[in-house]
Amino acid sequence: MSKVIGILAGSLRKESFSKKVGKTLLDFAPEGFKFKLIDLSEIPLYNQDFDDHNEVPDAVTKFRTEMANVDGVIFVTPEYNRSVPAVLKNAIDVGSRPYGKSVWDKKPAAIFSNSPGNLSAFGANHHLRQSLVFLNMPTMQQPEVYIAHVNDLFDEEGNMKEGGTKDFIKKAVESYIVWFNKNAE
Ligand SMILES: Cc1cc2nc3c(=O)[nH]c(=O)nc-3n(C[C@H](O)[C@H](O)[C@H](O)COP(=O)(O)O)c2cc1C
Repeated sequence: MSKVIGILAGSLRKESFSKKVGKTLLDFAPEGFKFKLIDLSEIPLYNQDFDDHNEVPDAVTKFRTEMANVDGVIFVTPEYNRSVPAVLKNAIDVGSRPYGKSVWDKKPAAIFSNSPGNLSAFGANHHLRQSLVFLNMPTMQQPEVYIAHVNDLFDEEGNMKEGGTKDFIKKAVESYIVWFNKNAE
């Protein structure tokens, strides 16, 4: 059976570059793997009362179930104020509870950060790494994937143009698959 890799893009924006990068990754899934875009748009803000009082919203259950069924995760994160956008951090928090039932545990991960600017969301990339250490996700170290000037990468239809960056991203996915195969339990 195919291994399923969840692709989480940390933006709700319709024309989000992170979502477009995520969509590009779908074409790079090798044989034996299925890459699946995970929708974060319906997840409410985490409130511990849900779990403490058995009032978990359907959208939370749906997300947790979907994530429980993936074998690995690629996070495509933009950067908000030098950190992880709230929508992605919220998804991580929602998936990490109730205590002891985290959907993230032991799943090999990679972080692809991107920005229209020069710094490629370095701050978000590394803040995200901090959470993934605690969540016990072996996270690919090399290559580091920092995508600068992401706004220049797509054509009018939202497809990634051929070129060095696309080649680099394809290679990074290949490295992630090697990483996955070494670290998956
Ligand atoms: C609240 C906010 C904060 C932002 N902070 C940063 C930042 O710290 N670093 C950065 O490179 N871009 C920053 N940006 C610009 C984003 O990189 C840009 O809006 C990007 O397109 C967002 O990702 P998306 O295209 O996936 O929605 C910020 C944008 C917003 C709305």
